[in-house]
Formats: sequence, C-alpha cells, structure tokens
Amino acid sequence: MPRITITRPDDWHIHLRDGDVLDRTVNDVALWAHRAVVMPNLTPPVKTAAEATQYHTRIMAALADNKRFEPLMTLYLTDATTPQDIKEASDSELICGVKLYPAGATTNSAAGVTGLETLKPTLAAMQECDLPLLIHGEVTDPDVDIFDREAKFIERTLGPLVEEFPTLRIILEHITTQDSVDFVSESRAGVAATITPQHLLFDRNDMLVGGIRPHLFCLPILKRRQHKEALRSAATSGNPKFFIGTDSAPHTVETKESACGCAGCYSAHAAIPLYAEVFEEEGCLDKLEAFTSHFGADFYRKARNEDTLDLVRQDNLAPDYLTFGSSSVIPLRAGESLRWRLEPSQ
Ligand code: DOR
Ligand code: ZN
Repeated sequence: MPRITITRPDDWHIHLRDGDVLDRTVNDVALWAHRAVVMPNLTPPVKTAAEATQYHTRIMAALADNKRFEPLMTLYLTDATTPQDIKEASDSELICGVKLYPAGATTNSAAGVTGLETLKPTLAAMQECDLPLLIHGEVTDPDVDIFDREAKFIERTLGPLVEEFPTLRIILEHITTQDSVDFVSESRAGVAATITPQHLLFDRNDMLVGGIRPHLFCLPILKRRQHKEALRSAATSGNPKFFIGTDSAPHTVETKESACGCAGCYSAHAAIPLYAEVFEEEGCLDKLEAFTSHFGADFYRKARNEDTLDLVRQDNLAPDYLTFGSSSVIPLRAGESLRWRLEPSQ
C-alpha cells in the first residue's frame, strides 16, 4: 500500500466551540495537528487576553491524556478593541492573532467590525506589536451579491488596508476565488491566505444541482468551478503564501438541515486525507507537506513540527455522523469513501 510520511501538520484556522463539545472538536484535530489557530467567535466572543486564557484552559482540559496539542488563541476584533487590548494580547504567549469579522458576515459575527476608520489606532498597535490580523474577507453590503462579496472586500477594504499598514501581517482566511489568489500572489510580503478542503473539493454545482446540500453550505460560499481550479493551482503551487486552514466548523444536524441552515463544514475528522486527495488528483503529492506543515508555521514565525504523520493510500469510509454533545454533526464526505487514511503512530 502506498504510504507517505509528512511533518506533522498544523491547522491555521479552526472552530472548536465551547462546553461539552470540546471533547469532540479538540480530540479530532489533535489526532493529526500539533497546533491549531482557534477562532474566537463564541457567544459571547473572546475579546480580551484574559478571556482567551480562560478559553485555552477549557480546551486543554478537554484534551485526552495521551495527546499533544497546542491551541493558538485569537481575539475577536470589535469596534471597541483598543491599542491596550492589543498590547495585552501581544504580551500573552498563548495568543497568535486577532480576527476581523465584518459585522453580520457569518456565524456569530454580530459583534464584529462595522467600519475600520475608528480602528486605525488599534491596527497601528497590531502592526507595532507584530500581531497578525486574520480576516474574514467579505463585504456585508446588502446590494452586493453573495457570490461577489469576497472580491468586493478586496477592492474596497483589503487593498487599501495592505497599503496603509505596510508591515502588518495579514492572513486572508478561507479564500474562495481567483480574485483572492491573484491578490495574495501579487501582494507584498506579509500577506498570505488559508484554503479549506471544501473549497478545493467542491464548487457551487456540488451544493445546488439536483437539490440543496446544506452540509456543503459554508461562508464564504462555494463559488463556480473556475474558482475552485484557481484555488487548487494556488494550494499545489509551492507558493508559501498559501497554506492549510480547515475552517472546520461544527453545527448540529438540526441546525444545518433547517429552513434557514447554518454555515459551516466539519472536516477535522478527515482534513489531511481530503487535502491529500486533492494534491494527488493534481499530481502534486510532493507539495502536500509544505502546504500542511511548513508554510503556515513559517508565516506565523513558529518552529516547524519535528514529529511526523503517516498517510496510507487505502479506501475507507468516512463516518455517517459524529456524536456532538447531545446531538450529532454530519461531517464532510459523510458515509462516502476517502482515498487516504491516517496511520496511527507506532
Ligand atoms: O462557514 C463558516 N462557518 N464560515 C465562517 O466564517 C464561520 C464558520 C462558523 O463559525 O460556523
Ligand atoms: Zn472560520
């Protein structure tokens, strides 16, 4: 059976949620990642270094005894975040960045940013402290079509921001378009992007043709095939500006299969096998390791992991569902075949 060994990956964008579901989310990702950047969009959001520290403690309490895992915490940027909040975040060894959600853009973003104008001193403090800004890059202007929201965000907000703060490190999260690939590729050093498995594997036809598949609904929404192809080229290009960030985001089956379904795909159970499938299809398996295990660590200025992960090419079935607190989650590829599987370490 073909087997590959790669440096242990990290996940530079994940939602672990809180409370009794941490058992599931934390231990699923800890099976394959050494570190993960933990999104702060809880209710209420994680807005201060003190709150991030408490959340970190709850995550570590959920980690099984035999696992090694390091959550990298983030703060949720609001209109009220001050330079002092940034200073405290930057002084904390647990915090690796600040997340910008435009208000109303996605799940639990109501407390997000309504405009950057008044936040200039806060952004200047981030640049000064060298604390990265993680961005959900979509405009929320109701006049902009949902499929154009990422491209419009680049034009209206991100382009000017990159220029105005020339040394601020910025990660455009979960990119979905050719526009984002081009923007990040052509931007100055210090601008990078994460790419999810679902945006590499699926396009909007997969979600909408022949019936609506709510478990493929995430934000930014899946785009047309041409954009998926651009993302595949970027991910497999060996360009260090593009790296793993699963955006694994659990929602219960009831909240997804609903008249107004939630946005988010759960991939922590199989993220690396899914990425491996994409890289194999593109004939670039040799580029997988850098994408999953090198480029993100380099961008965040963390040491690359020293241990390894084995992957075996053997068809296996993804679970139909995963227990999630008192309910369940339908994960990506539920009940269908995966081409790769993780080999438990000896
Ligand atoms: O699909 C998404 N789900 N996109 C996001 O930006 C947030 C996430 C969530 O928290 O469920
Ligand atoms: Zn996310």
